[in-house]
Amino acid sequence: MFDRNIFLVGMPGSGKSSLGKKTAANLRLPYVDMDKRIQDIMGMTIVEMFAQYGEDSFRVAETNLLMQITREPTAVISTGGGSVMNPQNVKIMKANGLIIFIDRPLEQILGDIKLDRRPNLAAKGLSEVEKVYYERIDTYRAIADITLDNSNGYYAGVAALERIIRLRFGLYAI
Ligand code: S3P
Repeated sequence: MFDRNIFLVGMPGSGKSSLGKKTAANLRLPYVDMDKRIQDIMGMTIVEMFAQYGEDSFRVAETNLLMQITREPTAVISTGGGSVMNPQNVKIMKANGLIIFIDRPLEQILGDIKLDRRPNLAAKGLSEVEKVYYERIDTYRAIADITLDNSNGYYAGVAALERIIRLRFGLYAI
């Protein structure tokens, strides 16, 4: 029945974690937040990891974790916003699940994104968010199996994600 992972991809601040966590709970599915898992494994925050070991180490940890996840029970997985920029990561996701792009308009992201937890964006501020958005948007669109329009707020986003997962995986009974 539920035999494929659901990988949520998209910009920082697009709602991957909030929608993923709530939807997985509603559908009683396992949930993995990749950033949180990396923090737990490393025993430090992502900000600390970037400062101590550099972004490259974080990116290696990200790929290792993706491979690890494919050996675990299927789950709803919130990926880090930059994960799709490594083709190897996309390959792993494609081979092991469905990729859903959480598509939130740049203006909305700029309106409420929290930069303090996001070391690669924090230093340069909102202009960096905008730059990264335009660097990545074509990739998000190109790799997605499904695009979820997350421009109508949290509750609409959760309902939309739930609907997609139910339809795709036949979870009507839950
Ligand atoms: C990153 C996004 C973060 C986190 C790390 C790098 C990025 O995840 O993985 O700070 O490069 O966009 P979120 O998308 O949850 O903010």
